[in-house]
Amino acid sequence: MPGRATDDRERSVPVARWLAGTLLLMCLAAWAAGTCWAGEMRVATGPLGSGVTVRQPVRSVKELKEQNPGKYWEPAQFSNPDNPLAHYETTGQEIWEQTAGNVDAFIASQGTGGTITGVGRFLREKNPKVKLYAIEPTEAPLLAHRKWGSHHIEGIGDGFVPLNLDLSMLDGIITTTSDEALEMAQWLSREEGLFCGISSGCNVAAALKLAKRHPELNTIVTMINDSGQRYFSTPLCGEPKALDIPDREHPMDARTKTELDKYQRNWEIIE
Ligand SMILES: Cc1ncc(COP(=O)(O)O)c(C=O)c1O
Repeated sequence: MPGRATDDRERSVPVARWLAGTLLLMCLAAWAAGTCWAGEMRVATGPLGSGVTVRQPVRSVKELKEQNPGKYWEPAQFSNPDNPLAHYETTGQEIWEQTAGNVDAFIASQGTGGTITGVGRFLREKNPKVKLYAIEPTEAPLLAHRKWGSHHIEGIGDGFVPLNLDLSMLDGIITTTSDEALEMAQWLSREEGLFCGISSGCNVAAALKLAKRHPELNTIVTMINDSGQRYFSTPLCGEPKALDIPDREHPMDARTKTELDKYQRNWEIIE
């Protein structure tokens, strides 16, 4: 196992092999759905300053569009319904076909929400009993605990409930620390030959937690979101990532609060 192997981690090796070898469906569908961010994952720095959140670039795009009507097209991954639709039409079907309909749970780290929402809709139509869990960083447990903080899992945990995340479908939330995600991504590369990004490590680490909590779930499906080739300049590949992240307030927006008020009390939280 990656990094500091503990007894607990040693014990989980067979589970990891079981998941990675037989049950983990490897989907690079985030590309197909247009939900990836950039050629290489980087935290935005420069004019906006380090420690910038995803909300600031989103605001800048809005300003640019207002100043130049008709000049820009915006993918708008957080709100564009084509994002979950693509996962409904492709990823969900792929999972159903490859498991021959034997899927007990689908879990996915949540950024735009497109993956968990689109795949979840498809699988629930096929089998209403399928369990659905969103995964978020332990350091930014917005769905689990209404808190947010900086973390190192690129692509997820942005501190608000996006329009493309349908909270009504979720059975629960699983949290994974940045270290757990990173170590699992390195382990997948070293032991399974899956050179994947950090959010993929986060997904597999969360799948192990779910398998331990719910041994009755025989088939747990999750995603390998992207390739490790996007992370050459990050700790995944041994590069230290020293970022000067300022302390700042992170108030919840009104819609996020309303959505959490509606659904949060029903969720199982696995940490
Ligand atoms: C690397 C990576 N992992 C996970 C996610 C989260 O997937 P989704 O946006 O469908 O919730 C994204 C989203 O862009 C991503 O880029």
